[in-house]
Amino acid sequence: MLNKTIDQNQIYIDVAKLHIDCIKTGFLPSLGIKFLALLYRSIDESNFSTLIVKYKDYQLIGFVSGTDGTSNLYKTMLYHPFNFILALFPAIFSFKNIKNIFEIFKHMSGIKRNNYPKAELLTICVHQDYRREGVAIDLYKKLLNFFKSKSITEFVIIVGQTLKANSFYTSQGAKLADVLQVHTNINSNLYTQKI
Ligand SMILES: CC(C)(COP(=O)(O)OP(=O)(O)OC[C@H]1O[C@@H](n2cnc3c(N)ncnc32)[C@H](O)[C@@H]1OP(=O)(O)O)[C@@H](O)C(=O)NCCC(=O)NCCS
Repeated sequence: MLNKTIDQNQIYIDVAKLHIDCIKTGFLPSLGIKFLALLYRSIDESNFSTLIVKYKDYQLIGFVSGTDGTSNLYKTMLYHPFNFILALFPAIFSFKNIKNIFEIFKHMSGIKRNNYPKAELLTICVHQDYRREGVAIDLYKKLLNFFKSKSITEFVIIVGQTLKANSFYTSQGAKLADVLQVHTNINSNLYTQKI
């Protein structure tokens, strides 16, 4: 359950904006704030996934999301069909976006991905002004508690090889297990983290 003093919908918009600010090179930001806000709403509302946020003086300074992998997140977005169509509408006119969406679905059922635990850290972001203060460590611990509550002993993190976040994961004990290509010609590291 999220912070009650801030409007729920505002939280999803804040999370979407921080995601876009933090991960400029990713594909998801190209789908726009509405799509991301709906994605994070679905992550928060589903019992197989979690969205953990950290506010300071009504400003979102960080968030982490994760899933136990027992169900498909994109399918749960369809529980809000009207919002889903509205959110996706601008994106479907781009061939590149459609290609990227198919690549994500292909990856989720890919042979390599299926060799590893289903549980996954989806995204972690900390506002630029609050980095290197241990905010991500705090969020990570809370995500670990979510996994523990579901008796999960190991989870996966998939992150672009060029991102500095790789250093964060290794600092927390995550082990590099594989290299994947979620999108053509872009390598991502797959880490496993024992709990
Ligand atoms: C990765 C990220 C979440 C780390 O957040 P943070 O709050 O600054 O991290 P912490 O302060 O908790 O760092 C803990 C440790 O991780 C390592 N670390 C974190 N950021 C690092 C960086 N940029 N370079 C090298 N090591 C880093 C360090 O060992 C650090 O400990 P130290 O500060 O005592 O040296 C943040 O840089 C971020 O939001 N990046 C952009 C989003 C992103 O790429 N997310 C990952 C994709 S899902």
